[in-house]
Formats: sequence, structure tokens, C-alpha cells
Amino acid sequence: MGDKKIFLYSTEGEEQGALPVIEGSYGPDVIDVQNLHEQTEMFTFDPGYLSTASCESSITYIDGDKGELYYRGYAIEELAKQSSYLECCYLLLNGELPGADALGEFEMIITEHTMVNEAIRRFYEGMRYDAHPMAITLGVVGALSAFYHDSIDIRNPKHRTISAHRLIAKMPTIAAYSYKYTMGQPFMYPNNQLGYSENFLHMMFANPAFEYKVNPVAARAMDLILILHADHEQNASTSTVRLAGSSGTNPFASIAAGIASLWGPAHGGANEAVIRMLEEIGTKESIVHYVERAKSKEDSFRLMGFGHRVYKNHDPRARIIRKACYELLDSLNERDTPLFETALELERIALEDDYFIEHKLYPNVDFYSGLILKALGIPLNMFTVIFAMARTAGWIAQWSEMLDDPAQRIGRPRQLYTGATPRPYVEIGER
Ligand code: SDX
Repeated sequence: MGDKKIFLYSTEGEEQGALPVIEGSYGPDVIDVQNLHEQTEMFTFDPGYLSTASCESSITYIDGDKGELYYRGYAIEELAKQSSYLECCYLLLNGELPGADALGEFEMIITEHTMVNEAIRRFYEGMRYDAHPMAITLGVVGALSAFYHDSIDIRNPKHRTISAHRLIAKMPTIAAYSYKYTMGQPFMYPNNQLGYSENFLHMMFANPAFEYKVNPVAARAMDLILILHADHEQNASTSTVRLAGSSGTNPFASIAAGIASLWGPAHGGANEAVIRMLEEIGTKESIVHYVERAKSKEDSFRLMGFGHRVYKNHDPRARIIRKACYELLDSLNERDTPLFETALELERIALEDDYFIEHKLYPNVDFYSGLILKALGIPLNMFTVIFAMARTAGWIAQWSEMLDDPAQRIGRPRQLYTGATPRPYVEIGER
């Protein structure tokens, strides 16, 4: 740590102490406030953590003003073009791109763990036939800890590694089973001859009655979606995984907590909400009305897929997905889908509107991802499940990094109390 400091002064100009400044390898420095309460008997106040760095991490870097995203120093644009989801999983978990042998071995390990215990298949039968696949996935992932007592010692690196592999490998199976159950169709076992994304699409859409061949264009588009959603610094669900994991709970419970947080429409649930919004908007002629609603303080309506806590320029993932969307729709001869046309027109109108310009509201990753998923035939209620599938790699990498951090302790924020001051109990007859 360098010797840069920030000095605190009272309104009368008396020095109240100094706080160390810590420099990162890239991006903003931080003010170390760990001893602030000891020095001043005060807390920092930052609801929503707009200005708070909750941890030190070397996994993912985002520059919200430049619209940049890096996994372990590699730009998302390059990974999207040249990498695969499993290669990105290896990168996020281990910090370096794998050589050919290491990648081959990692792919084999993941492939070997794609099956789930047969008893887990019976879990699904306890769910209502029309349960949301996120509800099913959340429940099943949390219950995985009931099956892996042999590897939930979080202080044992080998246990952490096998749990990471099991989660990455089994999420597509659990996700596809969640869909098959709600469709009343037989579950399709993983086919270990297929690649990761191809295997997922096969488990989603194949059935015993006929031979199903996954379209390689669709498999590549799915792999791109997974790459772009794999990690994203300390977002709400990742922070949830870290906070849950900081109590020492097992990896499956921590990841289930992340799935629960991701489900919200302000976070991962936005990709499903975007399509519902575009379907509600319907024609291009209605767009202006919805943009006006989104600007009105009297109306709680927001344009789903727009805005971001960090990106105040553009979400680099949205640009990549938008281009891939064009290419996929072209290759599937579905270019003039009304939904895609409405999305393009909505983006054009919003980006020219003063309110959106002033509030720096640009399309985020969720704005176009739903359109690709819809073009792939993925049902709406599976969109966030796919986001959770992708983000499992980032969650487990961040969880493991937290456990390796010597500064790590149980997360326990404080508060600004504005409730009743201490007062004596009043007998019921005197109230
Ligand atoms: C993801 O954090 C991550 O990294 C998340 C994520 C990841 O990969 O993990 O990138 C994935 O969650 C992307 C975001 C998906 N959510 C949506 O698309 C839902 C719609 N967006 C908004 O709900 C909102 O923009 C958030 C939640 C994304 C960001 O909210 P902030 O940063 O807390 O911003 P805010 O709510 O304080 O809004 C600031 C202003 C407000 O106006 P004022 O009160 O200041 O006048 O901008 C307005 C808001 O009303 N605003 C919007 C808007 N988003 C913000 N107005 C209309 N439409 C919107 N979408």
C-alpha cells in the first residue's frame, strides 16, 4: 500500500484524521475506510453501494465511462470473437487462458460431471406443473449440497475445485430439466459427445421420438450469450454470493442465493422483461407513448433493457449481442421479425431523447439478449435461467477468490439509525 492519504477535517477546520488511499492495478483508487469508525465513531453511508468497493478482486474489470469490460485483462470483444464459454470459465477460475492440453482436460472434466443424481430428477415432480423454471432451478441448486457431503469443506481447495466443476457442468442439465418438466416432456440425458452449448440445446429441444440435430449457428450463438454473461464484477447477484459465502456456507447454498438475486427484473430478470415490454408495445407507432411513460415521475414504468448502474456510455455486451442478433436472424431468415424491428426503433428513439441522453440510459446486455434467445426458440421463462447458467462461472470464481482473500471475514454492514430513541415499555392499559 502506498502512502497516499485523504485527510478529514471538521466544519471548524480541525483535522479529524487521515485515511489511506489504495491504488489498484487499473481504474479508480479506493479510500480505505476500514478504521473510520474506530477513528471517528462514524460510519460511511452509501445505500446501493454507489461509491463502495466491497472487496479486492482480480477477476473482472469494468470501465463504465468508456464502456469497457475485461475478464482477467482480456477484452470482452476479443473473447466474444475468439474464445468459447468453457475457455472463459477456465480463465475466470484460474486467471490465465489455458493451453490446448489444459483446455482439453478442463472440457473433459466438465463433460464428465454433466449428469445429476437420479434422485434429483424426482425433485422436479414435487413442483407445480406450471412452476417458473427459475423457481425450480433455485430449489434444485440449493439442494445439491444434500448430495455432495464429500466436497463442501470450503477451506479445502480440492473441494472448492470439484464444486466449481460440478456447478458449471450441471447447470445446463438442471436448467434443461426445469424446462422439460414444465413442458411435460421426458428429460433428455446429457450427450457427452456434444459441446457444452450444443449439449444444452440438445437437452432442451430433443425428445426420444425423433433424432434432433442442433443447428451449429444456434450453438455458437448460445455460446456467445454464455460468454457475455459469464461475469460482471460486483453486481447484485455476485455481491449476494460473496455475502452469503462469507458466513462459511457451502458453495451450492451460496450460488442458490445468487440465483435468487439475479431473478429480479432490475437485474437478470430484465431479459425476460424486455421481451414482455416489446410485446406490450406491439407496433412502432406505440413506442413514443412508452418512452414518455418511462420519463414520467408519476409512472413507475421503466424501459427494460435500458440503463445500468456502472455503464454510463454504452454496455459493450449490448453492441456485441446486437451484431450477433442481426447475423442470427439473417441466417435463420427471420430478419424482419416485428419484435426486432420494434427493438431497433425503440433504441433509435430512446438514444435521441434528451431524457435518456441526460440520464445516460443506453441499451444494456439484456436489451438484445432476449431477442437472440427468442430467435433460438428458447421460451421466455427460461431467459433468466440461461443468464444464471452463464453467470455460475463468475459467481463461483468470485466466491473462491473471496475465500482465498486473507482480508476476508463475514460481511456485516452497519446502518444509519433513524428509528425511535430508547423509551420505557408502556402497559397495554396505558396505551
Ligand atoms: C443487469 O450491475 C450489473 O453489472 C448488472 C448486469 C450484470 O451483468 O450483472 O449488467 C446485468 O442487471 C443489467 C440491468 C438490467 N436491468 C434493466 O434493464 C431494468 C431497467 N433498468 C433500470 O431499472 C436501472 O437502469 C438499473 C437498475 C439498471 C440501474 O439503476 P440505478 O443505477 O440504480 O439508477 P436509478 O434507478 O438510480 O436511476 C437513475 C435515474 C432515475 O431518474 P431520476 O430519479 O434520477 O430522475 O435514471 C432513471 C431513473 O428513473 N432510469 C430510468 C431507467 N433506468 C434508470 N428511466 C427509465 N427507464 C429506465 N430503464
